[in-house]
Amino acid sequence: MPRNLVAETLRQGLYTRVVGKRILFFQSLDSTMDEAARQAEAGATDGTLVVAETQSMSRGRMGRTWVSQPGNLYVSVLFYPDREKLPHLSSLGAVAVVRAIRKSCGLPARLKWPNDVLLKGKKVAGILVESTVDGDRVSYAIVGIGINVTMDCERVDELSSYATSLEAAAQREISRDGLLRHLLHEIDRLYLKLAEGQTPLEEWKTLLDTLGQRVTVSFQRESHTGLAEDVDEVGNLLLRLDDGQLITLTAGDVTLQQPYLKLADE
Ligand code: BTN
Repeated sequence: MPRNLVAETLRQGLYTRVVGKRILFFQSLDSTMDEAARQAEAGATDGTLVVAETQSMSRGRMGRTWVSQPGNLYVSVLFYPDREKLPHLSSLGAVAVVRAIRKSCGLPARLKWPNDVLLKGKKVAGILVESTVDGDRVSYAIVGIGINVTMDCERVDELSSYATSLEAAAQREISRDGLLRHLLHEIDRLYLKLAEGQTPLEEWKTLLDTLGQRVTVSFQRESHTGLAEDVDEVGNLLLRLDDGQLITLTAGDVTLQQPYLKLADE
């Protein structure tokens, strides 16, 4: 029987102002996103945390499934942000995950735009933000985070080529409750800062390995290749195409191309 990792996290002490003031732990769920949405509809408080040991219908970005197995970390946090704060929740989640991985495992996690968390170039965690907006008002927003902690990605066909886990990268056992505690502290700190008007943009940019690289960005049936020059103030990618045009991309999958070579006479 898997341990109740929330009980362990709380036993070790959780000092947050908003995040996790109410915590719901489930051995199994359809998706922590769906449970957080049900909680929101029932009027749950800001920062309500949903944790599941496994999920039967977990989802990732762009309609993909997210492989969920016991021993990893699957959480969703419910927020009621102001409309202008909404675009920052995804980078907030990513920065919090990177900080938590560094603090609890000592591993130098990095990011691939928009928010794949990487260790040595392989994906170890992902962030999914879903929201319900009514006119200019955000009814609620949910930040979902999945972190591969013990997953043996080599043995999962759909993950083996590009994913890893914290334990595989660290080559040692990782304390999930320690990781969860750090994660909640970091989300809480960043969310309080965001409420005061301080966005995670600058820190997020320094973690983005994508910038300065020649990449192909695919979204639905379109793809564009160019230099990932910068991101704008809400995190959209600014891609310099080969014809010199600068385009703004709001979503997509990034693939690294050959390094950008500066011509001698440029
Ligand atoms: C991605 O595609 O990179 C985002 C993956 C997000 C997965 C997490 S696991 C917890 C929460 N529940 C879900 O169904 N999805 C998110």
